[in-house]
Amino acid sequence: MTQRTPEALANEIAKCRSMTDKPFGVNLTFLPSVTPPDYPGYVKAIIDGGVKAVETAGNNPQQWLPALKEAGIKVIHKCTSVRHSLKAQSIGCDAVSVDGFECGGHPGEDDVPNFILLPRAGETLEIPFVASGGMADGRSLVAALAMGADGMNLGTRFIATVEAPVHAHVKQAIVAASELDTRLIMRPLRNTERVLDNAAVERLLAKEKALGDKIQFKDIFEEVAGVYPAVMQRGEMDAGGWSCGMVVGLIHDIPTCKELIDRTMAEAEQIIRQRLEGLLAA
Ligand SMILES: Cc1cc2nc3c(=O)[nH]c(=O)nc-3n(C[C@H](O)[C@H](O)[C@H](O)COP(=O)(O)O)c2cc1C
Repeated sequence: MTQRTPEALANEIAKCRSMTDKPFGVNLTFLPSVTPPDYPGYVKAIIDGGVKAVETAGNNPQQWLPALKEAGIKVIHKCTSVRHSLKAQSIGCDAVSVDGFECGGHPGEDDVPNFILLPRAGETLEIPFVASGGMADGRSLVAALAMGADGMNLGTRFIATVEAPVHAHVKQAIVAASELDTRLIMRPLRNTERVLDNAAVERLLAKEKALGDKIQFKDIFEEVAGVYPAVMQRGEMDAGGWSCGMVVGLIHDIPTCKELIDRTMAEAEQIIRQRLEGLLAA
């Protein structure tokens, strides 16, 4: 959760509104926690801010659907399996964001990569879905569309952009990393997270190996708690495990968001018109 309070979210929504007349969305992640964040406050800020789409994630969004739908907001639920996507469809979500095993962050525990997960979602779901996880450029977009998705969601790729409000070290680390540089942590706790490898992650994995199924969250607290401000704001790259997708292997530069989107669309068009139509013509 990047916005620490509903007020902070309301300010961010107002800022975004001042920068575009186009619709935009907000991610609302429901995390299991001892003292839950002020979710009603966040939902109110989203509704009052006139946001048009919400991506929910982390837990079943059912209890928030009536308020969001009454406000005319489209709800896209992020799911890492066909099973959960069907559940999202059945409770009335408007669309699903299908997050494959290669994704940055929490890929779930089924480990199905997008080359299988997206066509499975396509042959099963009636509501629209976007491809999430491993998406980088025009090639990703065309492939996602070919596999039945209606669009794509970029996570890690957007962090390495000029506008991303994170420390330069983070952007440089993403550009420098290869597709071999992510690790899965917290698997024994069934809270698997894909992160960029670093010294803290190696320490954490050594603890997981040593403690086996006896491991508890307190054993790895130091490597995962309070990591985001240290990494994202202060650029302390070894502070702990931070979410990052295998797609780092396809990220070689730090464009502006406009450059990234323009070239993605141009590349997708070129692939369709030249490579794919050319294959048919041959
Ligand atoms: C640094 C980072 C933080 C993330 N935080 C969240 C989050 O709070 N809630 C959420 O639903 N997804 C979160 N994600 C996952 C993304 O929304 C998206 O599903 C994922 O990054 C897609 O995979 P990709 O990184 O391969 O594009 C995060 C991803 C990254 C890289």
